[in-house]
Amino acid sequence: MYTQAMDVPDGSNPAASAPDSGSPQQRAHFDATIAADGRIEPQDWMPEAYRQTLLRQISQHANSEIVGMLPEGNWISRAPSLKRKAILIAKVQDEGGHGLYLYGAAETLGTSRADMIAALHSGRAKYSSIFNYPALSWADVGVIGWLVDGAAIMNQIPLCRCSYGPYARAMIRICKEESFHQRQGFDALLAMMRGTPAQQAMVQDAVNRWWWKCLAMFGPPDADSEHSAQSMRWGIKRIGNDELRQQFIDATVPQAEVLGVTLPDPELKWNAERSHYDHGAIDWEEFRSTLAGYGPCNRERLATRVAAHENGRWVREAALAHARKQQQRNTEDAS
Ligand SMILES: [Fe+2]
Ligand SMILES: [Fe+2]
Repeated sequence: MYTQAMDVPDGSNPAASAPDSGSPQQRAHFDATIAADGRIEPQDWMPEAYRQTLLRQISQHANSEIVGMLPEGNWISRAPSLKRKAILIAKVQDEGGHGLYLYGAAETLGTSRADMIAALHSGRAKYSSIFNYPALSWADVGVIGWLVDGAAIMNQIPLCRCSYGPYARAMIRICKEESFHQRQGFDALLAMMRGTPAQQAMVQDAVNRWWWKCLAMFGPPDADSEHSAQSMRWGIKRIGNDELRQQFIDATVPQAEVLGVTLPDPELKWNAERSHYDHGAIDWEEFRSTLAGYGPCNRERLATRVAAHENGRWVREAALAHARKQQQRNTEDAS
């Protein structure tokens, strides 16, 4: 996961600030690379606002991956079978890996992972609003895979063509893994929908609670999205929020039919003129309030993340001590 909040302001507005130090040749090279749909690499000169925009987006994305481990991680010990437990462990572990690739990509822009983690833990840096909702039943785990990871894939496939090389390359591998996440979610739900009426009701309840929140993951309408236009010009963002949301709805409705669940939107219907599904209005007030820290699980998520980081301190210290000893031994051997 999960790019939703990536153009949500976090107090900074890099596009409006940051005077650039580049020479006319450096600027021309940057502009020509973007115009030719080439890739900007870490050693290339880039406008400060471009660097800051990417840093904010990639670090928010990385934060979302590791906070995204929490709602499902809660279910590992309660998975209904050995098979489902093994799949869920692999999925949650993948999300941790996505965080690592993305912190690695963001570090090439000049900020350390420790600083990015500190910003997350202090509440200065954002992560996707979707992870501030609880996973109440086993069906929620399936719905997170099917809809949340499904929305993430829609959002992330265009990022494989992002103008910043390290981000684009990280996204190629991430998208392959997200596709497995989406399928495992759908498969878990299909098993439940072929089960008892109680299992079917559990799936429907989970879909009812997550559907609208998933639509909000694509971010505010393009008209209200403050960083979208500049990101499009820079080749960071390739497709607007509204179009991605529509693609997701159009792809998901037939899947819901296969599952036999009802998407909780009475206004959802095929529009033959547009060749798309029409849908009802999204509650942006709820989205904004969750993003601002007032969702049902914001405090709990951040507290769990900080505690995990603190509990892992000894591991990091032991690894560093080991690396120092190793280095000392190598130096001694060499002399
Ligand atoms: Fe992920
Ligand atoms: Fe995922």
